Amino acid sequence: MTQVRAVVSTGKGKPVEVTTIDVPDPGPGEARVRVQACGVCHTDLHYREGGISDEYPFLLGHEAAGVVDSVGEGVHDLEPGDFVVLNWRAVCGTCRACKRGRPQYCFDTHNAAQPMTLADGTPLSPALGIGAFAEQTLVHSGQCTKVDPAARPAVVGLLGCGMMAGIGAAVNTGHAGPGDSVAVIGCGGVGSGSVAGANLAGARRIIAVDTDPVKLEWAREFGATHTVNAAESDAVEAIRALTDGHGADLVVDAVGVPQTYTQAFYARDLAGTVVLVGVPSPEMRLELPLIDVFARGGALKSSWYGDCLPSRDFPMLVEMYQQGRLPLEKFVTEEIALDQVEHAFEKMHRGEVLRSVVTFG
Ligand SMILES: NC(=O)c1ccc[n+]([C@@H]2O[C@H](COP(=O)([O-])OP(=O)(O)OC[C@H]3O[C@@H](n4cnc5c(N)ncnc54)[C@H](O)[C@@H]3O)[C@@H](O)[C@H]2O)c1
Ligand SMILES: [Zn+2]
Ligand SMILES: [Zn+2]
Repeated sequence: MTQVRAVVSTGKGKPVEVTTIDVPDPGPGEARVRVQACGVCHTDLHYREGGISDEYPFLLGHEAAGVVDSVGEGVHDLEPGDFVVLNWRAVCGTCRACKRGRPQYCFDTHNAAQPMTLADGTPLSPALGIGAFAEQTLVHSGQCTKVDPAARPAVVGLLGCGMMAGIGAAVNTGHAGPGDSVAVIGCGGVGSGSVAGANLAGARRIIAVDTDPVKLEWAREFGATHTVNAAESDAVEAIRALTDGHGADLVVDAVGVPQTYTQAFYARDLAGTVVLVGVPSPEMRLELPLIDVFARGGALKSSWYGDCLPSRDFPMLVEMYQQGRLPLEKFVTEEIALDQVEHAFEKMHRGEVLRSVVTFG
């Protein structure tokens, strides 16, 4: 067992705290990782606000890269010193999704079996089964994806959640392809990832929509060909106007509220696709004329983690980043210390950052 400093959320809406936690030695199938960098994702804030579950205390942080410190019994494909990006999709291989050859939907992903705890023994719930706002964390070995150690941890760690979710929402779930028109509503870290993904996939028009002009400016750097300020104009009309009056082939909702989903629904062309990647809160309701759902045709999809397979997608995207084809480094707005996570939530709330990334010196 080892003791490390970590960021813990102890109750709904309460500011997070830096405290000392106990991280067990890895048991069978587990790995302990020295975290080098961990991005602050909106989902961490959803956890703190009780929007995901009420299993406090949470060990926050889940968008991370680090070096394997030690591995447990039976772990043969990983060794101390390996540079890894942590993932929350360690596929089981045996659930009904995996058995049908759809491991990207795995319904029974692996996490560490042993709990990390507060100093008094209270078990922690690690965010998305990771918990990486910590100097070290315990995960299942399958949650460690080896990538090129020459890559910068603060940058490639972002593939562990938000960037992968965003890129994958456009490419894997939405099947953006050459010649498509793609609109992305909400260009924070995740939505900008979708913009970058659509760009990588060869989309012809990429329309970034946000209420914040700074986000729109940044979206251009990720490949947006057009921008719409939804605080100033009607997003649906603006997207239609930019697509010859028809609507986009693919609209990604990276906000996840009824208003933006409805906009996405009506801003797509007939037979087009909507992908919901933003996470709604439990009380939200959607009302749509069922005849419109029928008559507009196409596909209404949700994207969990960009339908990614970490072992397939992380090394590939790291390589594309290193080739200069995916500007991953531009998602890192600032690097911060562990005790600045609460401050980073405030900045995220004010819309000042794409990603604040905790780095460990
Ligand atoms: N599905 C998944 O696997 C997955 C993974 C990671 C994050 N998420 C979710 O994705 C969402 C976005 O995360 P993020 O980290 O990018 O958050 P963020 O706070 O960085 O970005 C949200 C963006 O939406 C914009 N916005 C808010 N309301 C808007 C509106 N009405 N119209 C247009 N734009 C609006 C904001 O200005 C901001 O730029 C969150 O709900 C998060 O929980 C989902
Ligand atoms: Zn499975
Ligand atoms: Zn996340």
